[in-house]
Amino acid sequence: MVTIVYESNSGFTKKYAELLAADIKADCFSLDEAKEKLAAGKPVVFLGWISAGIIRGCRKARKLFDVKAVAGVGMAAGSDKILSDLVRQNKLEGVRNFYLRGGFDLAKLKGFYKFIMKLGAAAVVKSLEKKENLTPQESEQLSDFKYGSDHVSKENLADMIAYCKSL
Ligand SMILES: Cc1cc2nc3c(=O)[nH]c(=O)nc-3n(C[C@H](O)[C@H](O)[C@H](O)COP(=O)(O)O)c2cc1C
Repeated sequence: MVTIVYESNSGFTKKYAELLAADIKADCFSLDEAKEKLAAGKPVVFLGWISAGIIRGCRKARKLFDVKAVAGVGMAAGSDKILSDLVRQNKLEGVRNFYLRGGFDLAKLKGFYKFIMKLGAAAVVKSLEKKENLTPQESEQLSDFKYGSDHVSKENLADMIAYCKSL
């Protein structure tokens, strides 16, 4: 039986990890807890939030545990390109990998991350609000950056749940 291990900054990845663990009836730990509680080499499935294309905590989790699958959680809508970039940037070739759409909540960010995302979100909103005839993706992006978003759902975990059950 695998254990679910996650690294989350503002809570969306934690929500996915807990939904997954509840469905497959597995234990679920943050990476910090896992370092204390799990034996080295234990089989785990890892979920980490994405920052500038990097799945946070993934490298450390792979050093410590036998990582059977990795999910990156970002705010962008998923696509083949996003997943292939994630695989390349995080050296996930040969590891079962998933992309999950999380969300954006400025109120849950702190310090430097809050500062950088406040500036980034304002710049995206400004440029999209100037544009006429937004594509559906751009409209969604505008709304996500302007009002925040939460795309976490159990439906998004269907492939991961099936994979975990097959282990
Ligand atoms: C500093 C920073 C950088 C980010 N970079 C990316 C990114 O490269 N791609 C992406 O899809 N989302 C990016 N995001 C959005 C987060 O990955 C997204 O909000 C995610 O749901 C956060 O998960 P968490 O709540 O578990 O921390 C970034 C967020 C922050 C704060």
